[in-house]
Amino acid sequence: MSKPYVFMSRAVPEEAVHILKESFEVSIWEEDCPVTRERLLQEAKKADGLYVMMTDRIDRELLNQAPNLKGISNMAVGYDNIDVAAANEKGIIVTNTPGILSDTTADLTFGLLMDTARRLSEANRYLLEGKWEMWSPMMLAGQDIYGATIGIIGMGRIGEAVAKRATGFDMNILYHNRNRKPELEDKLGAVYRTLDDLLKESDFVVLLTPLTPETENLIGKREFKLMKSSAVFINVSRGATVDEEALYQALVNGEIWAAGLDVFRQEPIPMDHPLLTLDNVVAYPHIGSASIKTRRNMAILAAENLRDVILKGKSPNIVHVK
Ligand code: DGY
Repeated sequence: MSKPYVFMSRAVPEEAVHILKESFEVSIWEEDCPVTRERLLQEAKKADGLYVMMTDRIDRELLNQAPNLKGISNMAVGYDNIDVAAANEKGIIVTNTPGILSDTTADLTFGLLMDTARRLSEANRYLLEGKWEMWSPMMLAGQDIYGATIGIIGMGRIGEAVAKRATGFDMNILYHNRNRKPELEDKLGAVYRTLDDLLKESDFVVLLTPLTPETENLIGKREFKLMKSSAVFINVSRGATVDEEALYQALVNGEIWAAGLDVFRQEPIPMDHPLLTLDNVVAYPHIGSASIKTRRNMAILAAENLRDVILKGKSPNIVHVK
């Protein structure tokens, strides 16, 4: 009997490929760019399993042409690139890589927060561009982090890890989440707020919620108007949770002080995007979970997930429609 067939949409560390090659016939998109739609559709027609990235759109059109498909493993914790409901209707199991990237992503979130508040990237540019001609009292002065109020929207694993870091800076921690988390309130002193109250009271507004139909454009014109004019807004969730035009206006009009962004509605963000023209924007190319160790662990976990789904019909990391 021939082995089940798996398509991997990107080259990943060899240990992960090895896990799949032990049990399956495997082919890999080897180019250093996302797989083309055409090739993904072709592969879906014959694959028992798809190992994909957040850059791959797995929609109903693709699922309708995938008669053998049993599992889709996303090498990411976010899975807004996959139509999970359509997959589940067809009995196809979808998995993700939760937990193992929480601390790495929280480190990045806190780094971005510090970079934006204390103008670190701007200071580096300032020096390299030869603008440091003399010291002056208010040169590149930013916002204090210690003792400030952080408002975390989306208190999942990454939110908790960010809150833990905030305690080291003596920050007051507010959070907003679909469900209250009494254990975190006890453990970290986090205080629950409605979204509006969190926006009004926070010095740092940190968006970590997954992208769902309910969270698309969660933060827009009205929400920016509620924030303090000294507020620093940080987004490490998905670009589409924010109305970027409203964010641009809020920054230009001084409704908020600065923004640190790791995610964008269109990725890669076009270089002529208005947000990139502002000095009070710090922009990173979606590197939340990008440490060597964590990306390797994510690749391995995604391979284990797909192996378990195809061979056993189960995995600890199955994604369900919320
Ligand atoms: C995720 O895992 O969802 C990140 O955004 C990409 O690593």
